[in-house]
Amino acid sequence: AKIVYRYRDGARRTVERDTPASIMRAAVEAGVPGIVGECGGQTMCATCHVYVDDAYAGRLPVIGDEEEEMLECTAAPRDAGRSRLGCQIVVGAGLDEIEVDVPDTQI
Ligand code: FES
Repeated sequence: AKIVYRYRDGARRTVERDTPASIMRAAVEAGVPGIVGECGGQTMCATCHVYVDDAYAGRLPVIGDEEEEMLECTAAPRDAGRSRLGCQIVVGAGLDEIEVDVPDTQI
C-alpha cells in the first residue's frame, strides 16, 4: 500500500506499507506531519482531516454518519467533494494507493 501526503508548499511524504492501515494510522506511525489522530481513530477529533485527490474519489467507502458529523467540525474548511477523515479510509485492502492533501491548519 502506498499513501502520498501532499503539502501546500509542494512537499510530499510517501509512506509504503506491507499491511493495510488507515491514512491516519499510517501517518502517525511514520511520523508524517499534519495528521494528528488525537482520538485514535474513533471519529471523535477530526485531527485526521485530509483532502483526497479527485482521482480516488470514486473508490472510497461511503461517508458514515459519525464521519459526516465530525467533518462539520474540521479546523480547515470542509471541501464537499474531497474532505474525509483519514482514520476512516483504509489503504492496502482493495484500495492500494491514494494521494491526499494535508490541511495547513494541522501542520
Ligand atoms: Fe480522530 Fe480520525 S483520528 S477522527
